[in-house]
Amino acid sequence: MKTSLKTELLKAQKLGYALPAFNFDNLEMMKAIIEAAEEENSPVILMVTESAAKYMGLDYVFALALTACNKAKVPIVLHWDHGFDITLIKKAIDAGFSSVMLDSSLKPFDENVKETLDVVNYARTKGVEVESEIGHVGGKEDDRNSKSNGYSDINQAIEFNNLTKVDALAIAIGTSHGLFKGEIKLQFDLLKEIASKIKTPLVLHGSSQVPLKDLQKAIKLGITKINIGTDLKIACADGLKQYFTENPNDFDARKYGRFAIENVKKQAIIKIRAFGSNNKA
Ligand code: 13P
Repeated sequence: MKTSLKTELLKAQKLGYALPAFNFDNLEMMKAIIEAAEEENSPVILMVTESAAKYMGLDYVFALALTACNKAKVPIVLHWDHGFDITLIKKAIDAGFSSVMLDSSLKPFDENVKETLDVVNYARTKGVEVESEIGHVGGKEDDRNSKSNGYSDINQAIEFNNLTKVDALAIAIGTSHGLFKGEIKLQFDLLKEIASKIKTPLVLHGSSQVPLKDLQKAIKLGITKINIGTDLKIACADGLKQYFTENPNDFDARKYGRFAIENVKKQAIIKIRAFGSNNKA
């Protein structure tokens, strides 16, 4: 069933686990996420990005994701991820998403606050929750590439949180989006300091390829939503590669599709168990 971001994040915060927030780009990845959540009895966050919506078609993806959430046997938060375009964010709000993320993190502080408030004010009238980002998690996010990785500044994070009253706050502590991350060195002291001063649930983007023990340490220090995109894309592609290596002459979309689903599901289950959200539905 579709549920709210805030309900799930506050529960996770209280019980000391994190919600896996998975991106999907096709039907197979979406089915794998829902099946993994049901098998593990875990609440999860199902995330749609602008480029995924562009690929699948906005109306198709709305219908697909809403149906999946409403039919699921476990709580699913339907989340619009990395919204750069406020018009599209408002469409997701109108379509019935549980929550939306605005990413104006590369803009000047005042502009980030102003745009976040625009989204917050609109979302509140529809009972939808909002995540926004302070500092900047760089790398390959959605279809954009940004080189800079700006750590969150503690004072700015506090001020931003007070001014915008967002429901979830994405912070930059050393992760980056995509596959090639260089050396991953999370700033645990910074996370600890932010978590001691900000009670709003904290979000970690760019969490694929980050060692699970580092993510588990981040959970202990206060992260309650962990975004995973690339690791599921890799699992989907690897599943297809393996299938066609073993069955070079096959062409049945239902067979290779099912194989890809199983491979993505395995990866999703690894994250669910590592983040401790299993059996928390
Ligand atoms: P990764 O692709 O690095 O997992 O990042 C995903 C993400 O943060 C989506 O918001």
